[in-house]
Amino acid sequence: MPISTEISAPTPSAGPRAVSDSDFPLGTSLDNQLRFLLNYAVLAPSVLNTQPWRFSVVDHKVNIYADRSRQLMVVDADGRELTLSCGAALFHLRVAAYHFGFESAVYPLPDPANPDLLATFALINPRRATDDDESLFRAISVRRTNRRAFAETPVSPDVIRVFERVARDSGSRLAVLTTAEEKESVATLVEEGIRLGGEHPEIAAEIREWLRSNSDPRRDGVPDRAQGSWDRRSDVRSPSAVLAPRKRELVENSPAVLVLTTDTDDPKAWLDAGQALAHILLVAANRGLYASYMNQPVEVERLRLELARIVGGGFPQIVFRVGYPSYREGTPRRSVQDVLDD
Ligand SMILES: Cc1cc2nc3c(=O)[nH]c(=O)nc-3n(C[C@H](O)[C@H](O)[C@H](O)COP(=O)(O)O)c2cc1C
Repeated sequence: MPISTEISAPTPSAGPRAVSDSDFPLGTSLDNQLRFLLNYAVLAPSVLNTQPWRFSVVDHKVNIYADRSRQLMVVDADGRELTLSCGAALFHLRVAAYHFGFESAVYPLPDPANPDLLATFALINPRRATDDDESLFRAISVRRTNRRAFAETPVSPDVIRVFERVARDSGSRLAVLTTAEEKESVATLVEEGIRLGGEHPEIAAEIREWLRSNSDPRRDGVPDRAQGSWDRRSDVRSPSAVLAPRKRELVENSPAVLVLTTDTDDPKAWLDAGQALAHILLVAANRGLYASYMNQPVEVERLRLELARIVGGGFPQIVFRVGYPSYREGTPRRSVQDVLDD
């Protein structure tokens, strides 16, 4: 895959990245180098920062496994968002491989007897990174979820076209909603989804498990500082009656609302959509654009059907808004040692 984008230089910001190019274990075994690349995979976004992945490095290949112990069994019973998250980690791995001079190959769901083995990733040939590859690589340490209100500055049609092409190239489709009517229709679904979720205490309990106070030493979950001040707190989640209209307002006031859809709704499609999402987010980060998600309309079947109608069909996989932020905050990550099985 040539990773092709039209992107400008990123603005670096403080973040969880713990390694630099000079740490690359040149001259050591390929397996060792593959283990090093995982430092970039673990910086991928994941639902509620669950980081629901495990890796093993065997015979010059990385196996990427779903870590079901981190699956949201109520909100994400079929593991769709878990698989999207692992797809994002896979894309980061591919970008890191390009940066360090490797062509790679991906074998999705290679073992029908083991559906938790989501992909095998292999380095195949030496390859010189292109400028676009390097831009994506730099963006790995810049990208963040940003849940605050965005500036009104519109997202240029050129950037939107790049997003759409990236989605298409990965076998997904991106609907970009920028008119007030379009955004309002999605905002209504987001609001309804949050209200419906509020009627199920088990959803709030599951989400609460992954919310962290700012002083929590665990390297996963979402710290209070990464939330809007009006949003979820580590101890108490904002009541849905408060959250719903606020999220609605955020959606309506965002420059663009994006809905990523696929033609089928199965683990392979989720893995591809996760890669497309990560690719779009890195392109966006290079442009100073940040993203924030609201998946409630995808998590409730009736709302998902309505959303599909709004965006012209397909299976909506993720809903996010993008814009220029006024505030940035990062989330922690577990180290490669924490997620490596050998
Ligand atoms: C599949 C998926 C679903 C997500 N859903 C939500 C969501 O509904 N609400 C939200 O605020 N963030 C959502 N996120 C963002 C994660 O919470 C975020 O990626 C994680 O906390 C790590 O933080 P970072 O993106 O700043 O690195 C989602 C991310 C992924 C990959």
